[in-house]
Amino acid sequence: MLREPVTIDPKRVEEIVAREEAEFRRRTPRSLEIHERAKATLPLGVSSSFQAVPPYPLFISHAEGSQIWDYDGNTYTDFHLAFGSLLVGHAHPLLVEALRDQLGKGNLYSLPCPDTVFLAEELVRRFAPLEQVRFCNSGTEATMDALRLARAHTGRDKIVKIEGSYHGHHDTVLMSTKPAVEAAGPADRPNTVPASKGIPADARQNTVIAPYNDPEALERILSEHKGEVAAVIMEAILMNVGIMLPDEGYLKNVREITRRHDVLLIFDEVKTGVTVAPGGVTELYPVEPDLICLAKSIGGGMPIGAFGGRRDIMSHINHSEVLHLGTFNGNPMSMRAGIVTLTQVLTSETHAHANGLSKQLASAYVGIIEEFDMPMHVAQVGAKGCAMFRHQRARN
Ligand SMILES: Cc1ncc(COP(=O)(O)O)c(C=O)c1O
Repeated sequence: MLREPVTIDPKRVEEIVAREEAEFRRRTPRSLEIHERAKATLPLGVSSSFQAVPPYPLFISHAEGSQIWDYDGNTYTDFHLAFGSLLVGHAHPLLVEALRDQLGKGNLYSLPCPDTVFLAEELVRRFAPLEQVRFCNSGTEATMDALRLARAHTGRDKIVKIEGSYHGHHDTVLMSTKPAVEAAGPADRPNTVPASKGIPADARQNTVIAPYNDPEALERILSEHKGEVAAVIMEAILMNVGIMLPDEGYLKNVREITRRHDVLLIFDEVKTGVTVAPGGVTELYPVEPDLICLAKSIGGGMPIGAFGGRRDIMSHINHSEVLHLGTFNGNPMSMRAGIVTLTQVLTSETHAHANGLSKQLASAYVGIIEEFDMPMHVAQVGAKGCAMFRHQRARN
């Protein structure tokens, strides 16, 4: 049956939002109460400002599988899954058992344990660019450490970052993550816009912003900063702005341009690693970056990060060149969680199953969008997918 094409009526959107907010407030009085209390001791009442969403955040009591319960006892199907950190779902029985066992054997040694080696070997097996790897505790640490290493390897200070990408909250990369349109500058020559106060002016000078899917702009930027740039860091599939896929040949072009300018290429696979394919983006696109950064889903929900790549670059991590340190690095809980996640839970069958579900969901969304002629489109890759409020795919 043909229907009238849908046009978005802002007034109707406002009405629906108001109706849903009233219902949200009716169902979640205890979240409101604890949030009011939280604001006395925690800025915005939370521990990461990402969690402070209006009108107030849901406070969670527990979660299992795909289900999550709030403090008022409401149940939800969790499509958020900790910003994509839980491809394994919540409280997977194999992880619960393994982590209980590890807890009984001590949760922190700050000395190496064999699981660190086994997990490093599994990552090297999965991710083509990895010859060596080091563990840390978050995606932020992974990109921070990878960039320090790139600077040490090249002897240069500047880095190039893609507009709209997110690589964590350290100074170098907390720039132009979602800049205000008035501040963003021209599309092919974006400004470097700090996303937070408190970032030193020097940091801003050392981060040059390039547009996504624009190899000509990257070529020009690297020529203008000849001999100054240590690395280009990018989410090969840009996931900080919905899901933005690379144009055909774009990543290959980026690789050729960075090689020609003798600049390292770092793929931030914090979101894509193990979710878009068992071996991340480099399994989907035949492009070999020099370093990659991992975190989120590789640890099954435990705090973890990792960075690694070419052996000759990683070999700068020694007692006289690059320091890479951390009390919690390679801690036995996260290492155990990583091994169980990658070798027992995320088997080839599980990856295939998750990808199948993702495809099914995406095609159902496409069906609805087409049926109602909605100004939306769907992007899906591996276990990741989202519906975006734009008719056509955005490119940058
Ligand atoms: C691509 C990417 N890199 C780095 C990070 C930072 O990771 P973390 O929040 O673990 O510090 C994120 C977090 O969302 C991310 O999406």
